[in-house]
Amino acid sequence: MESSTDHTTVSRIIRARRSIRHYLPDPVPAALLHELVGLALEAPSSFNLQARSVVAVTEEAGRKALTEATGGQPHPQEAPVTLVFVAESGAWRGDRTDVWETARRTGAWSERFAAASPEDARLFHEDLRERGLEREYAIKDAMIAASFLMIAAQAAGLATSPMNGWDEREVKKAIGVPDRDDLHIALLVPLGHPAETRLHPGRRDRSLTLFSEVYGR
Ligand SMILES: Cc1cc2nc3c(=O)[nH]c(=O)nc-3n(C[C@H](O)[C@H](O)[C@H](O)COP(=O)(O)O)c2cc1C
Repeated sequence: MESSTDHTTVSRIIRARRSIRHYLPDPVPAALLHELVGLALEAPSSFNLQARSVVAVTEEAGRKALTEATGGQPHPQEAPVTLVFVAESGAWRGDRTDVWETARRTGAWSERFAAASPEDARLFHEDLRERGLEREYAIKDAMIAASFLMIAAQAAGLATSPMNGWDEREVKKAIGVPDRDDLHIALLVPLGHPAETRLHPGRRDRSLTLFSEVYGR
């Protein structure tokens, strides 16, 4: 059971996170990177389909290609790792037997729920496809995983920056999937040791962003 100490720690970590644009060359140890990506992939996903994956780009050529894809922004070049969060809008068409079987085997889902899930997911996604929303839904799975990653990295003493300013075709080329129409780039997240400190740029007054029952009230 979580304690009030956990709450204090998580609050402090969330409030301390800043988007960092400059990084030291110090590497992120492979075991730590693995752990952090593992925490990102603990994020929830629609139907637990996990319609997202992460590409860790650490080699010089890949980081250079990502920097070019971002119009020359410094972070992907300086950070020892840039994580590319990939949304997989075709996940529901593929074989997800592993997902249903794991949840059934662990007892997390009842036999009945696990048995019904493939068909439920198919019907849900066919409706999304008809409404042109497949990509948008997969992006949600990827974005929530990226959010978990940024918090986990902050807790490990590392810095990140969410990045949306890039050419999707260029990023897809950099990670080796130039022709995959079922894959979409959700977010780039450089990860590493910070070479700058940033002040909190502020958040709008809560009265403008938190409403009660009805939007605007
Ligand atoms: C979806 C998204 C895309 C962003 N894209 C970029 C980007 O391309 N380059 C950049 O330097 N910062 C980018 N940022 C960082 C924002 O500028 C930053 O989150 C905001 O100014 C608030 O600062 P903070 O993250 O330190 O609280 C992005 C943030 C989000 C959430």
